[in-house]
Amino acid sequence: MPTILAEAPREYSTGIRPAVEQDLSQILEIERLTFGQQWDYYQFKASLEDVFLVAVDASTGDIVGFIVACCCKVAMRGMILRIAVHPEHQGRGIGTQLIQAAFDKLKELNLGEVDLDVDIIKAGAIHLYKKLGFEVVEVFSPDIEEDESFYIMRRKLA
Ligand SMILES: CC(C)(COP(=O)(O)OP(=O)(O)OC[C@H]1O[C@@H](n2cnc3c(N)ncnc32)[C@H](O)[C@@H]1OP(=O)(O)O)[C@@H](O)C(=O)NCCC(=O)NCCS
Repeated sequence: MPTILAEAPREYSTGIRPAVEQDLSQILEIERLTFGQQWDYYQFKASLEDVFLVAVDASTGDIVGFIVACCCKVAMRGMILRIAVHPEHQGRGIGTQLIQAAFDKLKELNLGEVDLDVDIIKAGAIHLYKKLGFEVVEVFSPDIEEDESFYIMRRKLA
C-alpha cells in the first residue's frame, strides 16, 4: 500500500551569492544553532572582505547556509575558515554547493590549493570534505590540557 504524504515535498532550490552586511543577523542565527564556540558579529563583518558566500532558499529568500574562506597570496593557498548549514536544511547538498562555489572563487584568485581544519570528532563534516577531494595532511592539538584534536585537510584547486 503506498504511503500517503500529509503534504507534497517542497521543491527545493538554492542560489549562492556573496554575503552582504544585511545578511549578518541570519548568519549569526545559523552560527548559534550549529557551533558551540561561536564567531561574533565583528568576526563575520571583517570576513565580508574575504570570500564569504551565502546559500539562499530560492522560494523564501532566507539564508540557509554560509561559507567563509580567506586567501594567502604569498603561500598561493586558500583556507576555509567557517561553513555551516541551518540544521533544518542539512543533508540536501547545500554544504557541497557552498564548498564548490568557494573553490571557484579561490581559483579566480589563482590559488593553487585550499586548506581547512576540522575537529576530528566531526565525522560527518570529514566525510563531506573527503568526498570533495580533501586529504588529511596533519593532526594537531592546540592545547595539551584540552582533549581536543584537529585534522588539517588540503585539496589542490587546479
Ligand atoms: C558540515 C555541514 C556544513 C554540511 O552541510 P550539508 O548541507 O548538510 O552537507 P551536504 O548535504 O552537502 O552533505 C554532503 C555529504 O556529507 C555528509 N554529511 C555532512 N554533514 C554531516 C553530518 N553532520 N553528519 C553526517 N553526515 C554528514 C552527508 O551525509 C553527505 O554524504 P553522502 O552524500 O555520502 O550522504 C553541516 O552539517 C553543518 O552545518 N554542520 C554544523 C557546523 C559544522 O560542523 N561545520 C563544519 C566545521 S569544520
